[in-house]
Parts: sequence; C-alpha cells; structure tokens
Amino acid sequence: MALGNETAGDPCAPVRAAAKDKPFVVAQLGQSLDGRIATPTGESRWINQSSALDQGHRLRATVDGVVVGVGTVVADDPLLNVRRVAGRHPVRIVIDPTGRCPFNARVFNDSDGIRRILVRSSEATSQVPAGVEVIRLGAYGRTLAPGDIVAALFTAGVRTMLVEGGAWTVSQFIDAGVVDRLHVMVAPMILGSGKTGLELRPIARLAEARRPNANVHVMPDGDVLFDCDLRTRWEPEKA
Ligand SMILES: NC(=O)c1ccc[n+]([C@@H]2O[C@H](COP(=O)([O-])OP(=O)(O)OC[C@H]3O[C@@H](n4cnc5c(N)ncnc54)[C@H](OP(=O)(O)O)[C@@H]3O)[C@@H](O)[C@H]2O)c1
Repeated sequence: MALGNETAGDPCAPVRAAAKDKPFVVAQLGQSLDGRIATPTGESRWINQSSALDQGHRLRATVDGVVVGVGTVVADDPLLNVRRVAGRHPVRIVIDPTGRCPFNARVFNDSDGIRRILVRSSEATSQVPAGVEVIRLGAYGRTLAPGDIVAALFTAGVRTMLVEGGAWTVSQFIDAGVVDRLHVMVAPMILGSGKTGLELRPIARLAEARRPNANVHVMPDGDVLFDCDLRTRWEPEKA
C-alpha cells in the first residue's frame, strides 16, 4: 500500500533517540476513520488490526513506563505488558487521583516483578495494593498537572513514557504541552457513534490548529500510523 509521504523506518526510533537527561513523552491513541476510540458502550477492543497491535507492543517495549488514566483500567482492565513481540515490560503507571482503581486490576499483577506506580492526589487517603508505589501530587481542582506527573515519574526513574489512554488523559497531557510525540493509529473502520479521541482546548479558527510534522507508516494489514512531532515549531496565524 503506498501513500504520498509514507516514511520508511521504525516509528519507535524517535523515542530511542531521545535525550538521556530529560523526560520524553509519547502518547498514543488508536481510532477509527471517523476519529472514535470506543463504541457508545465503551468497547474499544479492537479498533486496530493485528500489525497495529504489534506496533503498540513494540512501543511499550521501547519505553521505561506506560501510563494510563483510571478510566481505562476500569473500562478495559489492561495488562500493559509486552506480549505480542519480544521485549522487556515497562513500568505500569495508573493516574488515579481519588483511589477508585480496583485492587484486583490486572495492571497491579506482580507475577512478573515489574514496578507498578499509582499517581494520586495528596488528599487521597485510601489503601493501595501491596507492593504498589505511590506518587502523591497536589491537585489543581480535579486535575493533577501533567507536567508534575512527568517530573515526578522522571525522578522515580521513568525517563521515557508512553501515555496510552484514554482520550481524557492523552488530551490533558497534550494541552499541558508535555507530549513530545503523538502516535495516532487510524484503522479503516467507521464507527459512526461513540467516544471521540482527542478533545483539546477549543480553538475558533483553523489558523490556530496545530499542524505537526508527521511520519506516516502504513501497517501491512491496512492501519495507518501518524507519528506526529508535537515539538514542531508552531505559531498560530494572526487574524
Ligand atoms: N482506542 C484507544 O487507543 C484507547 C486507549 C485507551 C482507552 N480507550 C478507551 O477510552 C475509554 C477510557 O478513557 P477515558 O477518557 O474515559 O478515561 P481515561 O483517560 O483512561 O481516565 C480518565 C481518568 O483518569 C484520571 N486522570 C487522568 N489524568 C489525570 C490528571 N492529569 N489529573 C487528574 N486525574 C487524571 C481521572 O480520574 P478520576 O475520574 O478518578 O478523577 C480521569 O477522569 C475506555 O472506553 C477505553 O476503552 C481507548
């Protein structure tokens, strides 16, 4: 399958090439042609096809840690490990400000000896599962500042991190300006209803929209990965 600006090479390479002395954040969403990440009932497995799922696992194996919001844990109960390709498992991190993540969530499974981290509001007092590390941060209203989360994870030894969902979490991280690369994996599927992907701070004019440089990778079974450089210099045009 050919595409005008299709890019050869490994979509994980920019993560590997990241500077060693500061955090590097890659965010990822898999979506349909009409920009949906789940059906109205929350079903999202699987919008993307086999090669795209393999690529997701390759990306997991490339980063130090994988981060999800508690909404994704409640909806999908993901394992967040590396199974579809060879590679090491990342640290598993859940942003759960008030402590509503179930103790028996699979992400907390410790049979593989991988670190598990809960990011919580400093006001949350409930227990955490045994062996799970906790990072406590001050909240701004309902939000923990993504910049604080990234800095705290870096201090905890997680330099490169993959924010793997859901839409709310990825959107917060992008709006806060902490995401270096955004991987949008588009499947040739039309849902026509359901949960949309990114929901960023509203803009009024097209001239204000970001147009990041993107590498485009066509997966063998038809999904298309847009690997977007969110550090592309960008000035909204004046009206
Ligand atoms: N297609 C895909 O690529 C993909 C990937 C992952 C998930 N999904 C789907 O997405 C849906 C879940 O996504 P979602 O957007 O509803 O939820 P989500 O982003 O997984 O989790 C959102 C929740 O996480 C907590 N959170 C995350 N970042 C925070 C921050 N900076 N500060 C404070 N709290 C923070 C908050 O918890 P509280 O609500 O407790 O405050 C927030 O409501 C499911 O349907 C899942 O299947 C799709």
